[in-house]
Amino acid sequence: MTEDNELVYGGDYNPDQWPRETWDEDIRLMRQAHVNRVTLGVFSWSSLEPREGEYEVEWLDTIMDKLADAGIGVVLATPTASPPPWFSLAHPEALPVRPDGVRLVHGSRDTYNPAAPAYREAAVRITRMLAERYGQHPALRMWHLHNEYGTVSHGPVSDEAFRVWLRARYGTLEALNAAWWTAFWSQGYGAWEEILTPRATQYLPNPAHVLDFKRFSADLLRDCLRDQVEVVRAVTPDVPVTTNFMLPSWHHYDEWDLAAEIDTVSIDHYPAARDVEGEVHAAFGADLARSFNGGRPWTLMEQATSTVYDYAAGRIFAKEPGRLERNTMQYLARGATGSLFFQWRNGRGGAEMFHSPMVPHTGPDSRVFREICDLGATLGRLGELAAPPADGGPVNRNRVAFVWDSTAWWSSETRAMPTDDLSFLDAVRAAHRALWWEGIGCDAVRLGDDLSAYDVVLVPSKLAVSDDEAQALHRFVEQGGTAVVWYFAGSTDELLRVRQGSFSGAFADLLGIRVEELHPLAPGETVTLDDGTTGDCWSQLVQLRGAEALAHVTGGVLDGVPAITRHDVGAGAAYHVGTRLEPGALRRLLADVVARAGVTRDHPAAGDGLEVVRRHAGPGTYLLAVNHDEVPRALTVDGHDLLADRPVAGEVVLAPGAHLVLRETARTPLPARPVDPVQPTP
Ligand code: GAL
Repeated sequence: MTEDNELVYGGDYNPDQWPRETWDEDIRLMRQAHVNRVTLGVFSWSSLEPREGEYEVEWLDTIMDKLADAGIGVVLATPTASPPPWFSLAHPEALPVRPDGVRLVHGSRDTYNPAAPAYREAAVRITRMLAERYGQHPALRMWHLHNEYGTVSHGPVSDEAFRVWLRARYGTLEALNAAWWTAFWSQGYGAWEEILTPRATQYLPNPAHVLDFKRFSADLLRDCLRDQVEVVRAVTPDVPVTTNFMLPSWHHYDEWDLAAEIDTVSIDHYPAARDVEGEVHAAFGADLARSFNGGRPWTLMEQATSTVYDYAAGRIFAKEPGRLERNTMQYLARGATGSLFFQWRNGRGGAEMFHSPMVPHTGPDSRVFREICDLGATLGRLGELAAPPADGGPVNRNRVAFVWDSTAWWSSETRAMPTDDLSFLDAVRAAHRALWWEGIGCDAVRLGDDLSAYDVVLVPSKLAVSDDEAQALHRFVEQGGTAVVWYFAGSTDELLRVRQGSFSGAFADLLGIRVEELHPLAPGETVTLDDGTTGDCWSQLVQLRGAEALAHVTGGVLDGVPAITRHDVGAGAAYHVGTRLEPGALRRLLADVVARAGVTRDHPAAGDGLEVVRRHAGPGTYLLAVNHDEVPRALTVDGHDLLADRPVAGEVVLAPGAHLVLRETARTPLPARPVDPVQPTP
C-alpha cells in the first residue's frame, strides 16, 4: 500500500455519484491537497452491475485511467456490502432475517445474509470481474474487500448453516447438549433439525446457544472474506489485500481471525467524544489496529475531517480547527501508514449527506479543505515514517499488553450475567485509558499468543477462559511476568460453563485467592476501600489462599474482605482487582504495577495529556509528541524536527494543541538549548 518513503493520503471516492464535469475538478483538487490514494467503488454495486450479470464498467475504466495519469493510486473495493435492489427481488432467501423473524429488504445498506449461497456467489462473481478487469491496471495499489463486515442473520438459510457449523464443532448431539447444558428448561435436542438460531423467545435464551451463534456468525463473515481473498489472490498474487474493521464498537467478527486472512489490517475510526476522551479513543483504535496487524504499520481507511454523526445524541458534531491534524499525528505515532477519509466529496443526497468529507458542500473555499491541503503538505514532509522498521520489529515497542478477546465480549452480552453492568469493552477501555493518561504504551494480545515480549499483561473482564489460556498466563507469570486479572475473569470455561470451587476459578491458583460469593453493586452503589478509594459495579467475597491483600473493603457485609491482592508466583506476580476501581485509583494501581515491573514511558515527560510515542521506521526512531493539555508542556529532545526541518536539542515547549515529529539522533539528552515554543496548527 505504501511506498517506503510516502505516507498515504486520500479517501473514499465515489465518482459514480457525480457528473463527469466534476471528475476533472476532483482530480485537480486532489493534486492541490496532495492526495495520492483513493478508495474506489466501496458501495458501487448498482453502478457496476445494474442488472444481474450485466456490467457497466466504462465509468470505472475512465476514472481509473484518469487517476493513473494524475499519479494517484487506487485502493479498489469490492462493493459487496450493499447488494442492489435487483438482488433482493431475485433472491429473497438471501436477505437478512432479524431474531423476531422480520425479513429486511433493500433501501439502506448491508442487506444480505452471509450464509446465503446466492449472496456468496454474486459477491464472488463481481469480485472476479473486478480482479480480472483491473488486476493489471497501473493505478491499482491494494484490494479493499467488502466494507465493515458485520451482517448477522437468522431464518431458514442460517439455521441450516448453523447446524453444519455445530456438527463440525461438537460431532454429536450428546456433546452439544452437554456443552449447552440443555437439560435446564427442557431444551434437550433430539435431532439436529430441531436446532434454530437463537430467535426471539419467551424469556431468557440459553447463553451457550447465543455465544455459539455469535461464533458461528463471525466464522461466516470470515468465510465471506475468504471467498473474495481467494479470487483476488489467484488473479493478482502481488497486490495486497485488506478489509476495513469498524473499531471498536462493531463486533460481529473476530478481528484476529480476519487479520489472519489478509495482508494488512485497516480500520475505520470516528471520535466518540468532543473532549480529550476523543483523543484517548484515537489512541485506542490505533493500538488495536497495530496489534491486529502484528505490530506492523496498518492503514487508517476512514476517519472524518470534521462533522460526525452522533446518532445517540441525535446531531452531528464538528471537530474544532486543528483537531484533525492532532488526531492524525496520534494515528501516525501508533503505526498508521497515512490517513484516508470517508469521504472525498460528500454526496448531495443519501443517508450520510451531512457527514464531513475532504471537499465539503461549501466547496474548496472552506476551513475544512484548507486543513486538508495543509495536512496533505504535512504528511508529505513525514514520508520517512512510512518505512517499516529495518530490524523487522514492531513499529511501537510496548512492554504492556491487554487481552482483547471476542469470546469475552460476546459472553458479556448473553444476558445471563450477575449484572448487566459487566461490559468487556468498558473494562478494556478503562485499562487503556488509565495507561494513556499515565503515558504508557500498550498492545492488544490474546492469552494464547507469545507473551514473551511483555512485562505486564492485563486481563480485564475475560469471563470465559479455557484451561490452555489459564496455563499460558500462569507460565507467563512463573517466568517473571506480571499479570493483572479483573473481577469475574475466568469464572467459566470456553463453553460458558461455570468453573466449580471458586469464581475466577481459571486463575484461582495463579491469583492465590478463592472467590466464594459475588456481590454485584446496584447502579450508583459503591464500595470504599481502606486506602480511601472507591469502586462500583462489583464486589465479592474473597479469601486469601497465598496472596497478600493490598486493599480491603471497609463497611457493609464485606467489611475487611480483600479487594486488591497480589500473589508472587515463580519469578513474577499476579494481581487481582475485585471491584471496578474509580479511574484515578485504577490509574494509580496500574502505574504502580508497571513501575514495579520496570516498564518505562517512551519519554519521561509523557502522560497527563502530553502524548509522546516512539515509532520505529527504517533504521531510525521517531518521537511523535502531541500536547492535548490546556497548558504548555515541555519535553527534552535531541533530533531533527521533520515539520520545521531543523535540528532540535534540548527543551522544547509545546503550546496547547501543538505537536512535534522528531527523527531521534540519540536517546540520551544533550545539554539543553531552548528553542521557540511550537505553536498549534491554526
Ligand atoms: C463507516 C462506513 C462508511 C460511512 C462512515 C460514516 O463506518 O464504512 O461507509 O458510513 O462510516 O458514517
